[in-house]
Amino acid sequence: MNKKQIENLLSQMTLDEKIDQLLQLAAAFYSDTAEEKTGPMSELELTQEAINNAGTTLGVSGAKEAKRVQDQYLKNNRLNIPLILMADIIHGFRTIFPIPLALGCSFDPTVAEAVASISALEASVSGLHVTFSPMVDLVRDPRWGRVLESTGEDSFLNATLAAAFVKGYQGDDLKNDLTKIAACVKHFAAYGAPIGGRDYNTVNMSERELRQNYLPGYKAAIDAGAKLVMTSFNLIDGIPATANRWLLRDVLRNEFGFKGVVISDWGAVKETIPHGVSATEKEAARLALVSGVDIEMMTSCYNHSLEELIKEGIISEELVDESVLRILTLKNDLGLFENPYRGANEERESETILSVDHRKAARDIAKRSIVLLKNNNILPLQANDKVAIVGPGASSNDVLGAWSWQGKQEESVSLADGAKKCSKNVVIGKEKFDYFEPSEKAIEEAISLAHQSEKVVLALGEPEWMSGEAASRSDIRLPKAQIGLFKAIKSVNQNVIVTTYNGRPLDLSDVDEAEAIIVAWFPGTEAGNALADVLWGSFNPSARLSMSFPESVGQVPIYYNVNNTGRPYESAPNEKYVSKYLDCSNYAKYPFGFGLSYTSYDYNNMELSQNRMNKDETILVSITVQNVGKMAGEETVQLYLQDIVAEVARPVKELKAFKKVWLEPSESKKVTFEIDEKLLRYVHSDKTARSDDGQFKVMIGGNSRDLLEKVFDYRN
Ligand code: GLC
Repeated sequence: MNKKQIENLLSQMTLDEKIDQLLQLAAAFYSDTAEEKTGPMSELELTQEAINNAGTTLGVSGAKEAKRVQDQYLKNNRLNIPLILMADIIHGFRTIFPIPLALGCSFDPTVAEAVASISALEASVSGLHVTFSPMVDLVRDPRWGRVLESTGEDSFLNATLAAAFVKGYQGDDLKNDLTKIAACVKHFAAYGAPIGGRDYNTVNMSERELRQNYLPGYKAAIDAGAKLVMTSFNLIDGIPATANRWLLRDVLRNEFGFKGVVISDWGAVKETIPHGVSATEKEAARLALVSGVDIEMMTSCYNHSLEELIKEGIISEELVDESVLRILTLKNDLGLFENPYRGANEERESETILSVDHRKAARDIAKRSIVLLKNNNILPLQANDKVAIVGPGASSNDVLGAWSWQGKQEESVSLADGAKKCSKNVVIGKEKFDYFEPSEKAIEEAISLAHQSEKVVLALGEPEWMSGEAASRSDIRLPKAQIGLFKAIKSVNQNVIVTTYNGRPLDLSDVDEAEAIIVAWFPGTEAGNALADVLWGSFNPSARLSMSFPESVGQVPIYYNVNNTGRPYESAPNEKYVSKYLDCSNYAKYPFGFGLSYTSYDYNNMELSQNRMNKDETILVSITVQNVGKMAGEETVQLYLQDIVAEVARPVKELKAFKKVWLEPSESKKVTFEIDEKLLRYVHSDKTARSDDGQFKVMIGGNSRDLLEKVFDYRN
């Protein structure tokens, strides 16, 4: 349909039909099992008419079921307006990829695009039209459970990957490419900065900080064409994001130019009542609609109150029309009027879901997301090494992560399974090993196997439920029983390699004495194969941390791009009155951008093409990187800038670019970056982003700590 036809369709709709289009209901409302409409369903107190005509649904999946639900919906819809089927496809649909925090460690937008593309294909043939992804909330606090869903602490890396995710999900021709689905960027905005790292808690930051570090990820997704934006549960400067007219109209619509659909996060419209900015559902409905929320997910404030609000002249029907028009336009962009089933196809579904190619991609991407944090020359394992694999993660299939919806643990590969393919000299504990209270038998078996082996892979970490939504932790260490196990194993065998499955950066100080530490995150369906590939060296680890690992939770929030402060510790480390702790360092144990390889890389000959630059010029910064080890590998060369003196205090460094380079043993390559005026811009006190004259420090290295540096002058 064209714009005129959509407007004509809108003009035929009754007010009730229009209001129903603004409602999103979960799959249970469309279930064909005659289950009692209990729980949330009964709380919503909706008429059958409203349920029949709700404009969109979330959580339906499977080609056959999707078609059934669409058929049932169209049968009940007077104007033959199709239903949109949405769901959370965060890092894979049925083939599960590493959690986004791990994908961030790949430092590779092609990885994010590939994950999104395969996810879109599997979801589309299964009948889905929209995914509530990418989640681009910047996070500097590992206590927050949803850190797993983000790509970490840096706004440049977040923005780069956000655009790649959207491209992978939507492609270039969403209407006709039935292998693609629409992307919904979330959670707008700054949901990743709750005070205390406690989910749903207050977010408190200046507008300048919000614009400088937190908004770029959402903006990048919107500039890449994301069709929807989801509002967040939290406050923005005292006003819930879902009722925040400045955020949703002034910034999102007018500044960012977003023309797509805004959907509330689950219940967020009605939650303006407990937030204390609405007294009633009617007030909640008015606030959200006036602020610019088009779809209300899983509460019925709109459905119960909008007609009355219009009749009383409190809001105009045009506001409803504006939202309905955006929803009809989205349905049209998805081609649903012509083809309500879109990509749903049982035959294609069975061919593509969890295909060999998808598993291969999942294994390859998982390898590139696994971070080697420590290695006292004990890795890679050799085929003739006698290796014991013990601990809760050894045979675990709890490797998918908390947002893996259609992923099935039983379809995943455990470390034990992966290891057996790499070596015949592997012994694996038979006893089930609990994450928190392992049985005496399991512990004794682990110690005995460790005693009789040359090396021990001690697989530790978090179970899936310890991260994700509503899963914040105040203590980010490994569970006590696992620390005890580490000590017991270490006492019988010094050669301990710790691997972790984890949904957040952890305080790993308790296993600091390990000979090697590998962070596998939740690697997804191919977990065990990918981790074994890294352990036995068929893959040389190349991932770099997307988020700092603290020495202690007491340092949190801790991140690499800090301000210098007026009393920097570095300038007077022996002074009392400088910015420091009495009981731990100021620094991350493993900083942003850090990761080891089975080889090592030397950085030399840093050069600038010139030492001065004006607005229309660029400076070329080059560095020679050499592989000085025995194994070929991929290095991520990172470029950081510091604006030494500016109108506001600028961080001591900020990531501005990165390049991946493959190097054979002894091979050197010259890596060159181009600095232009855009890279020098920052948000000023007047909230606009622009560059200033002054001195800049440019730094290059393989992580955010060990860097070579030069200085140049910029004149506007
Ligand atoms: C959840 C999450 C959001 C998700 C939505 C639908 O509460 O906050 O990320 O997309 O509900 O499942």
